[in-house]
Amino acid sequence: MIINHKGLGQTIIFLAGKASVRTKILGMIIPLVVFLGLWNAVQIQGMAREMAEQQLTKQGISIAGEMASRSADLIFTNDRFALHQLVNDTVKYNEDVRYVFILDGLGNVVANSFGNGLPEGLQFANMVNNEEHHKLLTINTEEGLIYDVAMPIFGGKAGTVRVGMTEKAILSIADTSITKVLLATGIVGLVGIMAAIFLTFVLTTPIKEMVAAAREIEKGNYKERVPLWWGRDELHELGMAFNKMAGSLERGYEARTGLIKKLINAQEEERKRIARELHDETSQSLTSLMIGLKTLEHSQEPAEIKQKVAELRQLTNKTLEEIHDLSLALRPSVLDDLGLVPAINRYLQDCKRNFNMDIDFHAQGMEGVRLPSEVEISIYRVVQEALTNVAKHAKATAVSVILERQGEAVTAIVEDNGVGFDLDSIWKSPVKEKRLGLHGMQERVQLTGGHLTIESSPEIGTTIYAQWRINTDIW
Ligand SMILES: Nc1ncnc2c1ncn2[C@@H]1O[C@H](COP(=O)(O)OP(=O)(O)OP(=O)(O)O)[C@@H](O)[C@H]1O
Ligand SMILES: [Mg+2]
Repeated sequence: MIINHKGLGQTIIFLAGKASVRTKILGMIIPLVVFLGLWNAVQIQGMAREMAEQQLTKQGISIAGEMASRSADLIFTNDRFALHQLVNDTVKYNEDVRYVFILDGLGNVVANSFGNGLPEGLQFANMVNNEEHHKLLTINTEEGLIYDVAMPIFGGKAGTVRVGMTEKAILSIADTSITKVLLATGIVGLVGIMAAIFLTFVLTTPIKEMVAAAREIEKGNYKERVPLWWGRDELHELGMAFNKMAGSLERGYEARTGLIKKLINAQEEERKRIARELHDETSQSLTSLMIGLKTLEHSQEPAEIKQKVAELRQLTNKTLEEIHDLSLALRPSVLDDLGLVPAINRYLQDCKRNFNMDIDFHAQGMEGVRLPSEVEISIYRVVQEALTNVAKHAKATAVSVILERQGEAVTAIVEDNGVGFDLDSIWKSPVKEKRLGLHGMQERVQLTGGHLTIESSPEIGTTIYAQWRINTDIW
């Protein structure tokens, strides 16, 4: 595989283009859910830290203030026991207080909550000036951050009180919240992923079924349809349109195969007819001609010879006419020799005579115009079949045939005022034997690049329009 792409963006687009719809949807949802969860956790962590700092320093200052005021007298009276009591009670009743200790005016520890003495360096870590109300120090310990408040007692004359606030409790509440948020995000994410899987299943299953059906039709199995089990949404509409298309392909295929069968049959019938005609008519006539000539060979009487020659001439004439009729039925040579309009004209004259019909013919814009020969023969055959149908089915009193050219468009119209028929039932009906006139007409017009339209109604009769667009270069 060669990926010839310049940037990462293009590669992602290239790979995404190759991925299935399911991968695309999940590929969007999973990172979003993970990002949302992590983002929430980081936000909560940040907020908790900010809150802890504000809350703990405020609380620490207030506790230190209270201790400073309560311890001043006890220091002056050197009541160590009461000072210890005060320190122990403060630690005991304030969950967030990690330690408390009191220094006297000389900086010696007079009471502390550690029991075994202060950790190293803590005593002088946060020195407050006597003029200051308090001083704050954040100490990073292995137990986490400690917010240390140092406050002078009695303007520093009695010493200093130090209160260390721990963020442990607040952070543990934050941790619980983060766990809950992550859990909720996880559950929502899982539900989202399941919904996405379901959604992709609902979306892709009909599409997969349509792909499978299209492949079957491509193989020639025109009866294949999509099941349409899913709701009444756009995919259902697509499926219905697909099935409709498959239906018309199937009908077209049936019509085509039926037409081919009919053409082959017609061809065979025609051969039989020509063979019969040649045998029964032409051969007979030629045999008579030969016998006549033989008798003429042995004739001596000039009068007899004259009469025989006249008879033979008549026979020859009749044979010629038969051959002419035969060749005309095979292919209207007038179409090749004179052109479309005279050929149609001649055919209509025959129809008038044979079917006793009143036919009106107009040709417009056709002077000196020769169309491609396959279009000419198509128009001729459409007119032929349409008029045969009128004679057979329409019970019409007037028929009109129009042939016109406007620019690139060439239109043949055959209109009757007969009984009409139900077009839908003809198009939808399965192709039956000997009912291929209209199907064949449509097929022939389409094959030569034209378009056929039929209108029919009981009151008005039937109109057949066949239209072609011809490249004007050939005019
Ligand atoms: N001009 C018309 N007026 C009334 N009915 C018509 C007309 N043309 C066709 N029909 C109806 O449509 C049907 C189908 O016509 P179509 O030409 O396909 O078949 P057909 O004429 O019956 O047989 P064939 O295959 O020999 O042409 C006819 O049987 C007839 O009922
Ligand atoms: Mg017909």
